[in-house]
Amino acid sequence: MSGKDELVGIRTAALGKVQAAESSAQLDEIDTQYLGRKGELTLQLRRIGSLSQDERKDFGQSVNDIKAELSEAIAQRRQALDAGESKAKLAAEAVDVTLPGRFYQTGRPHILIETIEKIKRIFIGLGYEFVETPEIEDYKYNFEALNYPPEHPAMDEQMSFYINDDVLLRTHTTAYQHRVMPYRKPPMRVATIGKTYRYENVDATHGHTFHQVDCFAIDHDISLTDLKGTIQQFAVEMFGMDVNVRFRPDFFPFVEPGAEFAVTCFLCKGEGCGVCKGSGWLELGGAGLIHPNILEKAGIDSEEYTGFAFGFGIERMPMLEHGIKDLRLFMENDLRFLRQL
Ligand code: DAH
Repeated sequence: MSGKDELVGIRTAALGKVQAAESSAQLDEIDTQYLGRKGELTLQLRRIGSLSQDERKDFGQSVNDIKAELSEAIAQRRQALDAGESKAKLAAEAVDVTLPGRFYQTGRPHILIETIEKIKRIFIGLGYEFVETPEIEDYKYNFEALNYPPEHPAMDEQMSFYINDDVLLRTHTTAYQHRVMPYRKPPMRVATIGKTYRYENVDATHGHTFHQVDCFAIDHDISLTDLKGTIQQFAVEMFGMDVNVRFRPDFFPFVEPGAEFAVTCFLCKGEGCGVCKGSGWLELGGAGLIHPNILEKAGIDSEEYTGFAFGFGIERMPMLEHGIKDLRLFMENDLRFLRQL
């Protein structure tokens, strides 16, 4: 084959490959194969020495023309591929603004946590300091220090989860009183909020695990009026309306006098409805003036100081407010329940 024919063959093959190339990496390979230092066209130039004087110029010119043509073809193909690639990229990244949005599910505090936070905010606003004390509690704090007589039925194993003879799951948050009182000097206003446990037969209104808040205040001249005013102020802020507070005598070993207290039903505003069973009152918890024995045990002179204390359950409030009929729902984490609130 003459040099010229060979050149034509190389040209046709090279241009064909350029057109068939699908990526710029393939174009790089073609570039090296033909135009590189050891490329096929570059090697053709080396043949010039073996040609006659007449042929040389013509042959050299042809090789250079083909090199230029091939370079140009590679550049053009590269441009076309780049344009195609970025078009494909744009198409892949295109946003269809007419599609409906995605629904992101966000978490939110549990209804009990919300209730607890609200109660806390109100009492903090009234000057109470919240403390945390153990849920696994010493018998002595849960009962003994609270003036329970030795044979009191609340201490019966039927009512409490004992871990051993001296340790149990606290049956009420009042157990914190003697973890705090002896270590402070009056005046004091302290509160706690958290889980309590009782060995109960579980049903819609009785749970083995529930939440309570417990508050006490000790100062000079504290009286039942202060207790009533405090509960009333709490209820006003909690239920967002004017409420009355009703005391009825009740017995708790750590208060004297002791009372159960109720507030005006926030659903019917005292008119009487299904929730308050027509009475107009909602019973919330227990209260009283701190028993002098308790103060003395904490090293506080009961001649000089008096105090009040009260405590109530938390679950009842969201139950009444949202018409929740079963206490167990709070602890079961059933999404069908949680999503409704
Ligand atoms: N601890 C009591 C209970 O669980 C409630 C209670 C009554 C708390 C009187 C008090 C109080 O602080 O003074 O039933």
